[in-house]
Order: sequence, then C-alpha cells, then structure tokens
Amino acid sequence: TRPLKVALLGCGVVGSEVTRIITTQADDLAARIGAPIELAGIAVRRPHKVRDGVPAELLTTDATALVKRGDIDVVVEVIGGIEPVRTLITTAFEHGASVVSANKALLAADGASLHAKAVEHGVDLYYEAAVAGAIPLIRPLRESLAGDRVNRVLGIVNGTTNFILDKMDSTGAGYSEALEEATALGYAEADPTADVEGFDAAAKAAILAGIAFHTRVTIDDVHREGLTEVTAADIASARKMGCTVKMLAICERSADGRSVTARVHPAMIPLSHPLASVREAYNAVFVEAEAAGRLMFYGPGAGGAPTASAVLGDLVTACRNKLAATIGAGESAYTRLPVSPMGDV
Ligand code: HSE
Repeated sequence: TRPLKVALLGCGVVGSEVTRIITTQADDLAARIGAPIELAGIAVRRPHKVRDGVPAELLTTDATALVKRGDIDVVVEVIGGIEPVRTLITTAFEHGASVVSANKALLAADGASLHAKAVEHGVDLYYEAAVAGAIPLIRPLRESLAGDRVNRVLGIVNGTTNFILDKMDSTGAGYSEALEEATALGYAEADPTADVEGFDAAAKAAILAGIAFHTRVTIDDVHREGLTEVTAADIASARKMGCTVKMLAICERSADGRSVTARVHPAMIPLSHPLASVREAYNAVFVEAEAAGRLMFYGPGAGGAPTASAVLGDLVTACRNKLAATIGAGESAYTRLPVSPMGDV
C-alpha cells in the first residue's frame, strides 16, 4: 500500500511530540491505519533551533510551498493563531489534503467556514486537540451524543489557569511564580495572556457550545472574565468558606431551548465538588444530556504529550479515511492483536 504523506506545520511543544510519536511508533501506526505514514515536511519559523528527534532534513520555512505540493494526504497544524494559518489550511484543502488542527483560536473564530471548505473539497477537518488536551471531548459530543440532547457543558478547560490557581491555593505560590512554572512545563500559550485573560478558555467554550448545541458560536459570543483580578487574599477567603477558586467555562441551552449562552470566569467551588479536586494542568468537563444524564470527562488538559495524543488520534482517523477513499471502504488492513487467554491487565 502506498504511504500516506503527512506535512506538519509548527514544531514547538506539541509538534515535536507529534514528530517523536510518528517516528517511534511508526510500525504500530502503520498497522492501525493499514499503510505507513511518511512525514513529508515540517514547516518551522526557526530551522536552526535544535529539536531532539526531529529530522533536520524535513525542516522548511516555506509552509505555503509545503501545503501546495499536491501530494500531501494530511496536514497537521500546530502553529496556532488566526493568520497565516487560516490561509494555509484553506490552501491545504484546495490541494486535496485533510487537516488535523489543535488551533482553538482559529476554530472558535471561523470553524463553520473551515468546515464548509473541507466539505467542498471532499476532505476532513479534525480538531480533538483544540479542546482539553488529551481528553476525548469533541468526538463524544459530535458522535456518541449525537442522538441525545445536550443541555449543559461545564468545567475547567484551561490547564494553565488551573495550574496557577492550584499552586496559589495549595502551596501559597505567588501568581507570577506559578505562571512561570506553567510556562516552563509547556502548558501556557506562546503569549500567556490568552490563558490568564480567559481568551483560550473562551475559544474552547465557543467550540464546545457550537458542537453540543448544533449551532454557530464564535468567541465573540462568549462572556469572558480573566484570572488577573483574583488575588491570594480571594483564594484564602474562599478557603475559609470551604471553597476553592476555579476558572470555569459554562455553556447552556436556555430553559425554553431557543437560545444558548457561553461564559468563562473564575468561580468559587465548594471543596466537596469534584471540580475542586482537579489539580495542576488537568481539565474536567461535565456534559449534561437529557437521556445520558451527567457525564464527566477528566484528564491532562495541556502539555506536549497529552495534546499530541489527541492529534495522533485524529491523524490516524484522517489517514484511514484517505486510505479508504483511495482503495475503497472496508478494504484497509486493520490488524488485530492476539488475545491473551488470561486477559493481560
Ligand atoms: N494553554 C492551554 C492550556 C493549552 O493551558 O489549557 C491547551 O489548550
């Protein structure tokens, strides 16, 4: 079977993990997809920066030429921001590539028209990594719960601010010190203002609300309050009242079902609530649906490896679809692991 050609746009915290997994797990990925992945090029701004485990010969500064090659099956975008990424993704679609993106800002600004573009060109757009890192949330909302009626999505969707609040609350660390640590651990955005002012969480709330309520929601529709006004004294007073402070994203369908709201702001949470025990850069999201009831999704919400896990899941799906389109659905060779009679745990 022919290899599936993948182009990577961006090679920072997430991109280098994606490269590492594609390289080190090549055989497993090939078996699951039914064809090997060939990393065809990696577009970066600084080609001379040292990146462990990233093949230097694949680096290019010309992202446009890479997406215009015409032989790329899937473009993985982990640059972030609106432009030039929107143009690059659109160009990739026009040249027949599916796109896997971790770009919450772009999807929250323009997800609907990007979807329309992908459909127009008969390719896929996947973005599980854009919301809540490794936690499967987009696909469960879009697919598993597609037959139910979701009324509310509520939770912690920004790892950096949760890390800061957790450190301030549990260790008495100062705000700046905690933010520096979150940045060093690869949780914060390139410009951490996006995290602490709530733009990152608002983008994720817009994406979640759009999918959960089957409507068009952009970041401009989301009410947003950041973390910068929360002081150590606020956290200490919350403690005295048996509470902690968390940054919440809340998306709701109105009681009459005719409108939706989405908001992001710091909130006091009773220590007995499950969200109060979400530590470090973990995220947790409750989804309330009419038939399903209340579901909780919990896990690592930021950082290179967890985000790469979500990217890789989308990449496998996009590659399988490409392969099925080439050789006919149902013919791709899914391999099965031998089943141990004792069931290895
Ligand atoms: N800066 C983001 C966060 C990264 O802290 O949640 C994951 O989207």
